[in-house]
Amino acid sequence: MRKQIVAGNWKMNLLRDEAWELINGIREELDNHTASPSEYSDLVVIPPFPWLRDAVDLTRNEDRISVGAQNCHYESKGAFTGEVSPDMLSSAGSEYVIIGHSERRQNFSEGHQMLKKKVASAIEKDLSPIFCCGEPLEVREENTHQEWIEKQLNESLFHLSNENFQKVIIAYEPIWAIGTGKTASPEQAQEMHAYIRRMVRENYGDRIAKDTSILYGGSVKSANAQDLFSQEDIDGGLIGGASLKVQDFIKIYYSF
Ligand code: PGA
Repeated sequence: MRKQIVAGNWKMNLLRDEAWELINGIREELDNHTASPSEYSDLVVIPPFPWLRDAVDLTRNEDRISVGAQNCHYESKGAFTGEVSPDMLSSAGSEYVIIGHSERRQNFSEGHQMLKKKVASAIEKDLSPIFCCGEPLEVREENTHQEWIEKQLNESLFHLSNENFQKVIIAYEPIWAIGTGKTASPEQAQEMHAYIRRMVRENYGDRIAKDTSILYGGSVKSANAQDLFSQEDIDGGLIGGASLKVQDFIKIYYSF
C-alpha cells in the first residue's frame, strides 16, 4: 500500500534556533494527537543543509518524523566546491532528498540529464528521491502540460529498474502555483496525478503504479489540504511556506 506523505520543504529559511523551535513544536503537537492520521503516513521535515544533522538528532528515537534534504550532487565525492553528495546525506541520517525542484531547474540550470544522474545516485545511497515535476504557466495555457510532464518523467525517471523505481516519490508541482497563493484546483491536480499514475503503470505495471506515492505541491495550506488530499490519486503534499509554521503544518498533516 502506498504511503501518505506530508513533507515540509523549508527552502532557504530559518536560523538555527528557529529550526529547533519548529521541530520541537511539531513534536509537541504530535504528542497532543494520540495517533498518526494513518498507519501508512509519514511526516518529513526538509531543512537547509546546515540544520540537517540537528533535525536528525532532535528526532532521534522518534519514528513519527523523518528527515530529508533539499538537493544533492550526483557524485559521491570530489572537487565540487559547495556541493553535497548523496553519501553525505545518508551518512548524516537523511532518508529523503528532493530532486528537480523547479527552483533548481530554473535558477541553477538543472536539466533532465543531470536530474537523471541525481536520482540514480540518491537511490544507490539508500535515499528516497522526492522527484519534482511541473509545468510553467505558459505551458498550462497552451494546454500542453501533460506532454511537458511526460517528458520530465521519461527523461529523468523511467530509466530506473522496477526495484529502484519503487523508492521514488513523485511530487507534481505546477510552477504557477508555487509560492503564489494560487493552488491548482483539486480537480486540476487529480487529473494530473491520475495521468502521472497512468504513465507509471505503462512503464512499471499496475502493482507498482498503485504503490507509488504522488504528492501535490504549490500553495498547499491548512484551508485547502483536505480537498486536495481527498482526491483519489493525491497521496499528500510537498509544502513550502506553510511548513514553516507549526500549527499550519500539523493541520495539513492531519488533513488526510
Ligand atoms: P509553496 O511551495 O507551498 O510555498 O507554494 C511548495 C514547494 O515549492 O515545494
